[in-house]
Amino acid sequence: MKAAYINQTGPPEVIVYGDLPEPKPRRNECLVKVSAVDVNPIDTYIRGGSIPAKLAFPYILGRDLAGTVVEVGPGVKRFKTGDRVWATGQGTGERSGTFAEFAAVDERWLFPIPDGASDEGIVAVSLVGITAHLGLLGRARLKAGETLFVNGGTGGVGSCVVQIAKIRGAQVITTAGSDEKVKACRELGADAAVNYKTQNVSAAVKEFAPEGVNVWWETLREPDFEKTFPLLAMRGRMVVMAGRDARPVFPVGPFYTRDCSVHGFALFNATRREIRAAAMDLNPWVAEGKLRPRIDRVLPLAKAAEAHRLQEESTIKKTGTLSGKIVLKP
Ligand SMILES: NC(=O)c1ccc[n+]([C@@H]2O[C@H](COP(=O)([O-])OP(=O)(O)OC[C@H]3O[C@@H](n4cnc5c(N)ncnc54)[C@H](OP(=O)(O)O)[C@@H]3O)[C@@H](O)[C@H]2O)c1
Repeated sequence: MKAAYINQTGPPEVIVYGDLPEPKPRRNECLVKVSAVDVNPIDTYIRGGSIPAKLAFPYILGRDLAGTVVEVGPGVKRFKTGDRVWATGQGTGERSGTFAEFAAVDERWLFPIPDGASDEGIVAVSLVGITAHLGLLGRARLKAGETLFVNGGTGGVGSCVVQIAKIRGAQVITTAGSDEKVKACRELGADAAVNYKTQNVSAAVKEFAPEGVNVWWETLREPDFEKTFPLLAMRGRMVVMAGRDARPVFPVGPFYTRDCSVHGFALFNATRREIRAAAMDLNPWVAEGKLRPRIDRVLPLAKAAEAHRLQEESTIKKTGTLSGKIVLKP
């Protein structure tokens, strides 16, 4: 089968698009004919070797997939041949990556694709949607009627945070780096959207929530607590989920005197049970059009190296080239 894999960590050029043996489904595994995968920033960190990961080479890239079950291994109970399925959380430990024509996936990691959802659409909300769900509803415990701020309302995670917060019944203010993206934030349901390059974000937040926002979701890799804490409401909660190397100043005074809290969140710590529960919420939201996937472009899997280069430029070098996810088709 064709696959996009690496034999060593390094720049996007280390990605090989070539032939690897088709996997055989083992006990409890389904063989999935993959129809769509997507790129996440973490894929580029793993490929680049910037985060510790034990990789067995050839290492097939990719966390998420959508496709159709074409064979089931012994013991499989939940799925049968012909079922449309999606998954996240692959490409780690025992679990092989997804950037291939076929993937053998333990059925406990597979979720049905609901009628009304496309394979490209569901894969584009998979990792980012579950991140937003578990962080917002599990960690920050966002409630109806509360106010939420999120940086980057058209980004992979940010666009899901905006929409899930609206599903929850919160009032949402977000940012984007161009007027076109500001408009897109509003189309996603944000009550207010600010161009962070041309407008004063702090002033806009104060106007939107004079008593401070209840939840601040930070997508940036350099959280600025000095700026954020004074904009939090009494008992405000902040979610930080990026920036392994960040060592920002932590202003204790404006934090503890108003009972604030900061929640660290990393999806790779979530249990399979937590991920499944979130996936089962995401499914009807996507099918009913309440959670709309934001796809920047669709490319053939053969262009995996180009896709990694683009994702890196946009997220790490902050060119803002992308507005949503890159979906790849084997
Ligand atoms: N902890 C976890 O479990 C977890 C899960 C998923 C992702 N992450 C991490 O979260 C981060 C975001 O991931 P992603 O997939 O959402 O990336 P993404 O799609 O590239 O989104 C990045 C967002 O940041 C915005 N942005 C850039 N500079 C900004 C600035 N100065 N002010 C305000 N917004 C700014 C961008 O806005 P414009 O495009 O409008 O410029 C864009 O919306 C990455 O570092 C990723 O590794 C962590």
